[in-house]
Amino acid sequence: MKFFIDTANMEEIKEAFSLGVVAGVTTNPSLVAKEKNVSFPDRLREITELVPGSVSAEVIALDAEGMIREGKELAAIAPNITIKVPMTPDGLKAVSAFSKEGIKTNVTLIFSANQALLAARAGATYVSPFLGRLDDIGHNGLDLISTIAEIFAIHDIETEIIAASIRHPQHVTDAALRGAHIATVPYKVIQQLFNHPLTDKGIEAFLADWNSR
Ligand code: E4P
Repeated sequence: MKFFIDTANMEEIKEAFSLGVVAGVTTNPSLVAKEKNVSFPDRLREITELVPGSVSAEVIALDAEGMIREGKELAAIAPNITIKVPMTPDGLKAVSAFSKEGIKTNVTLIFSANQALLAARAGATYVSPFLGRLDDIGHNGLDLISTIAEIFAIHDIETEIIAASIRHPQHVTDAALRGAHIATVPYKVIQQLFNHPLTDKGIEAFLADWNSR
């Protein structure tokens, strides 16, 4: 399983990339809205100058025609832009059009296996099931990842599964075990992945022993 970072914040992206473990970026309108004094296209330019991997940029239009127009404008910013489209009939019409033009897509707001299967058949490059938001309403987001992974394996579907709406480190471990190809992880959770009290204690003990020579 690969790591993407789920943010539109440049400092977080720079820091995460300097770690050498992150392969791409996902944004969404709520994350972009937190970034003041910068236009969306300018922020996408900044991100794509730094990040060679997939950078997901979400369309705002709700009709297929509008999504296609917006998506083409966003895709023109850089070759590694992936167009993020919501899981709706119009969204899938847009995905199908993008797929015919070789534009990569990420179908977002996936909450069922059937939605993932439809998105894949429309030609989606990625599907993004939202773990945390399913957990929030008492459903099991991880079971959804397993089901989608199993269906995609049975039917040789190449669409990749991005485990999204990750809330804590255990989600990351479990998404990897359940067959997600990618987890898109907020910066705070990426930091938490590094932590273990025994690592800190071990470093402290090694240094103390070294200094007592
Ligand atoms: C994924 O692409 C989304 O941007 C994101 O993971 C949503 O997470 P949230 O439920 O924490 O808003």
